[in-house]
Amino acid sequence: MGTSFVLLVVTIMGIFIRTHEAQLAYDYYKFSCPFVESTVRTEMLKIFLSDISSPAAFVRLLFHDCQVQADANIPGPGISLNKLLHIFTSHGMTIEESVSMLGAHTLGVGHCLNIASRLYDGNPDDQMNLGFEAHLKWKCPTRVPLTNLTFVPIDSTPIAFDNQYFKDLLMGKALFGIDSTIARDPLTNPIVTRFATDQDYFFKVFSSAFVKLSSTKVLTAKEGEVRRQCYRRN
Ligand code: HEM
Repeated sequence: MGTSFVLLVVTIMGIFIRTHEAQLAYDYYKFSCPFVESTVRTEMLKIFLSDISSPAAFVRLLFHDCQVQADANIPGPGISLNKLLHIFTSHGMTIEESVSMLGAHTLGVGHCLNIASRLYDGNPDDQMNLGFEAHLKWKCPTRVPLTNLTFVPIDSTPIAFDNQYFKDLLMGKALFGIDSTIARDPLTNPIVTRFATDQDYFFKVFSSAFVKLSSTKVLTAKEGEVRRQCYRRN
């Protein structure tokens, strides 16, 4: 279930391509590369099967590396709820869809650098589960990380695309400040609770939000270019 969901998501990413009319089209490669969707799907599957961390890297790519770098405004792990909502509502998302986007943190890992502040600067309003806190302090023992190599899973099932992330948040097992914020704020707590209890509903909202994320603010026509070689500009 997890892998097929990520495959679907990556295929969606692959087929939103620019057109000359400055709009996006599903069939942009209809003539120049008619089997692009199945080719991408087959190649992605090979990568996913050979590298367990790759689904997280691909999902992460769309937001952290594409959307955000384009804005030159990289949000940190302690970003406020207002700023978070500003980022996603500017992509045409509802508050519920904005919260679902953080559900991408169901996959992957975080490094001590991004956890240390929450762990050592202490916010009495933001209590973690004690066992979870002890585990994190064992993994990240110093305020300034000694290396950049230590990482911990963002939720307790880091290779499955599921709703465990939201369940963990409600148990005080949020890794980053913003993850904890959406579980505690009265505006977003009911949404987190619903996603934690109804995985199908989370998938439904996430899918619609992900399409909005990947299809808005894309550079079209003369603003961007379709690369002939994907690793360098034309
Ligand atoms: C403003 C909102 C967000 C903030 C503040 C945020 C913050 C972070 C941070 C601090 C990390 C850990 C980086 C590290 O320590 O290596 C991370 C990882 C990740 N983020 Fe986000 N994130 C946000 C939104 C998103 C969105 C919208 C997506 C995808 C749709 C996403 C997908 C991921 C994934 C998959 C990882 C794990 C990457 C891996 O294991 O390789 N994040 N995020």
